[in-house]
Amino acid sequence: MTSPPSIPSFAQADIARILITPDEIQAKIAAWGEAISRDYAGLSPVLVGILKGSVFVLADLLRHITIPVRLDFIAISSYGPQTRHSGVVRLLKDLDHSIEGCHVLVVEDIIDTGLTLSYVLRQLRQRRPASLAVGTLLNKPVRRLVDIPLRYVGFELPDEFVVGYGLDFRGRYRNLPFIATLRPEILLAA
Ligand code: PRP
Repeated sequence: MTSPPSIPSFAQADIARILITPDEIQAKIAAWGEAISRDYAGLSPVLVGILKGSVFVLADLLRHITIPVRLDFIAISSYGPQTRHSGVVRLLKDLDHSIEGCHVLVVEDIIDTGLTLSYVLRQLRQRRPASLAVGTLLNKPVRRLVDIPLRYVGFELPDEFVVGYGLDFRGRYRNLPFIATLRPEILLAA
């Protein structure tokens, strides 16, 4: 029997429940890496991360990919709190290299409304990649406003706010090695 993951002291009073343990995350990512290595064999895909949350998934995922891959990042921002879920976003950092004729896999930590990804996919499609697919560690289908075809999904989540493994609340908790919910008073105090 495995012992429950330890919570770093800075977060002990704030965590309500651990939903996905570090071992569960790593097992899923290892299987995902094997699937990518199989599915994209001979295609030298480009993995695209959307900053910042996806860096944790990408760093672990890449270590399980056994075929040649390239890595690139894109950063976007909504125009402000009132447009958070309007789909109005702007490009803060573009890809470093052209993806024309490349097999592109966008890797996300979480897909919620789908608005972020919908914007990113529109931008990337215009650049004529050979193929364009999406993988996400976490998926919240009940929150979806835009339909996004997903090639790889790690875990389906209920409609609860979660932090850890790249996901933040007001910039904190990204460095937790598990996915967890916060106590309501932490969310309300913000
Ligand atoms: C998160 C996540 C996705 C987006 C998903 O990023 O990494 O990019 O939200 O939400 P959506 O499906 O409702 O558009 P966030 O905006 O929190 O930025 P971060 O990765 O820098 O934390």
